[in-house]
Amino acid sequence: MHVLIIFGTVEGHTRKIARTLSATVQSLGHQVTVFDAGDLGDVDLDIADAVIVCAPVHMGAYPTAISHWLKTKAERLAGLPGAFVSVSLAAASPFPEEHAEIQRITTALFEHTGWKPLMVHQAAGALKYPQYDFLKRLLMKHIAYREGGPTDVTTDHEFTNWNALTAFAEGFVEACRTAPETTAG
Ligand SMILES: Cc1cc2nc3c(=O)[nH]c(=O)nc-3n(C[C@H](O)[C@H](O)[C@H](O)COP(=O)(O)O)c2cc1C
Repeated sequence: MHVLIIFGTVEGHTRKIARTLSATVQSLGHQVTVFDAGDLGDVDLDIADAVIVCAPVHMGAYPTAISHWLKTKAERLAGLPGAFVSVSLAAASPFPEEHAEIQRITTALFEHTGWKPLMVHQAAGALKYPQYDFLKRLLMKHIAYREGGPTDVTTDHEFTNWNALTAFAEGFVEACRTAPETTAG
């Protein structure tokens, strides 16, 4: 089958997640097209047998490029098996209320766009202190401190569980084989 992976990103970590998903799906013998929602142009959904959408949370919301894309493609997406990978720091938080908040943001995206993916994965993202500007670095260091997270601003800190992400991609490919709408082979 042909899997379309579309992602949005601000600091690049979700691109890395999209590429990891792509490598996993390809290793299972399937074709993949990866598309950055922030790029100009569009991608032909007619080529796709399944779709994986990856989006990071910034200031309590997913990128508008992603919600806009989902909304404009809603009709076509309804006929395709889909998976959503949400990327956030809250997914790595020790506090249950942070997980509940991310779940609320995810549900709001689905309600707003009308998209109903088969599977959802909450992936922990990264702190990329060296590439933040002064104010962003201060804000993120403060949040990390509050959460008991790393405050060394001289380096990146990744929280993504790559094994769990790979297992999710494998589970989705398997689910596509049995999804009634799919033309996957
Ligand atoms: C300015 C800023 C705001 C953020 N806001 C949130 C947030 O509201 N909730 C959350 O869980 N994570 C938040 N994050 C963490 C990001 O989701 C995380 O860094 C993610 O890896 C970013 O993905 P990207 O590199 O693809 O943009 C924020 C990060 C930054 C830099």
